[in-house]
Amino acid sequence: MDTIFVTGNGPLIGQIPIAGAKNACLTLMPATLLSDEPLTLTNAPRLSDIRTMTALLTSLGAEVSSLQDGKVLALSSHAIGNHTADYDIVRKMRASILVLGPMLARDGHAIVSLPGGCAIGARPVDLHLRAMEALGAEMELRDGYVHAKAPGGLKGGIVEFPFVSVGATENILMAATLAKGTTVIKRAAREPEIVDLAHCLRKMGAQIEGEGTDTITVQGVDKLRGATHPVVTDRIELGTYMLAPAICGGEVELLGGRRDLVGAFCDKLDEAGVDVQETDNGLMVKRRSDHIKAVDVATEPYPGFPTDLQAQMMALLCTADGVSVLEEKIFENRFMHAPELTRMGAQIDVQGGTATVTGVKKLKGAPVMATDLRASVSLILAGLAAEGATKVSRVYHLDRGYEHVVGKLKGVGANIERVSDQ
Ligand code: EPU
Repeated sequence: MDTIFVTGNGPLIGQIPIAGAKNACLTLMPATLLSDEPLTLTNAPRLSDIRTMTALLTSLGAEVSSLQDGKVLALSSHAIGNHTADYDIVRKMRASILVLGPMLARDGHAIVSLPGGCAIGARPVDLHLRAMEALGAEMELRDGYVHAKAPGGLKGGIVEFPFVSVGATENILMAATLAKGTTVIKRAAREPEIVDLAHCLRKMGAQIEGEGTDTITVQGVDKLRGATHPVVTDRIELGTYMLAPAICGGEVELLGGRRDLVGAFCDKLDEAGVDVQETDNGLMVKRRSDHIKAVDVATEPYPGFPTDLQAQMMALLCTADGVSVLEEKIFENRFMHAPELTRMGAQIDVQGGTATVTGVKKLKGAPVMATDLRASVSLILAGLAAEGATKVSRVYHLDRGYEHVVGKLKGVGANIERVSDQ
């Protein structure tokens, strides 16, 4: 397992290119199962989660080629050769459940392992299953697997979610494209990744209206065709690197950054005393003074403040003037970074879903480790501004969602190294 060493060394200056979105790519890839024609995704991120989805799709009989050093994925699924998504792959990544809707819609049957819990919470898939039932599927849970059948094919229907789920919206949106008749998805997620999926499906011939709002209407078609689609910018990678100059000082331009993807986050940065300017190539970020102001943050579905930026925002607020309150409203156990940040000298009190952060003057480097992707990167951000060296273990979490994290931060002057323990 590799280790990353970060030493705080002052202002960061330069540009960081932002990749295509992991979470968009992970839902665009299974869309290949909806058609017997090729799907080409450009602007794909080079990440271990993408390799896991590649392995899953390949196990189902799809062909996936990685071109141009992984930036282009050429997918095709002439026929689904195997309709079982095995536990060995699904347990590695919850997004594997996204093959359920496409397989069921195309061939009327699918068997998918239940993903189980994960570090940030129980994360059930009941909403996915109920949505498929609303389109006429019969679901049975047996031996840890979901056995889904729709003998006469899926039929359009009304899917009303009790609360917003990104994955369940994506799954049913894909399934509804090939269902007979009209499907209305109410309380749909509005995330940019959903909009990106709808755009791609539309290029494939799907009839969809309302993506980006809480009601999506899909008119089923008989067949989808091939398409080429660029993956939308990763708003979470964008937000993460926007925090680097906010924490360390300096001025960094995020290439490909779009303010509309991170509106609520930019509002909080502004309140904290960080300037975000649109440029011809993306977003330029600079703090207004050496002092960061405490701000309160509550995570919400899009367009609210994203849960996937909560840990990184906490790293900024550890050295703010005053007391910040962070409320995590999406996942029940997403403060694992708090005890690690405390090891670096932060003052954080966690009570249930609320973390109260009292700003300190300076963090101090320490050996730390985290159990999920966003928590790990928050420790790197904290290390960038800490006195002395921070050793971050379990780097494989980072490889799931950040390509070339060391190279990108080095490029703006950070003192960061990755060491392989062979
Ligand atoms: N939930 C249920 N039942 C379901 C589905 C979800 O109870 O059937 C609950 C979850 O446990 C959670 C809430 O609903 O408490 C929202 O979960 P959602 O379904 O929206 O999350 P997801 O689709 O599993 C995606 C991202 C996550 C991101 C969340 C929220 C992907 C591959 N993952 O997960 O990304 O945090 O939406 O925005 O798109 C990450 O990238 O680090 C990450 C965890």
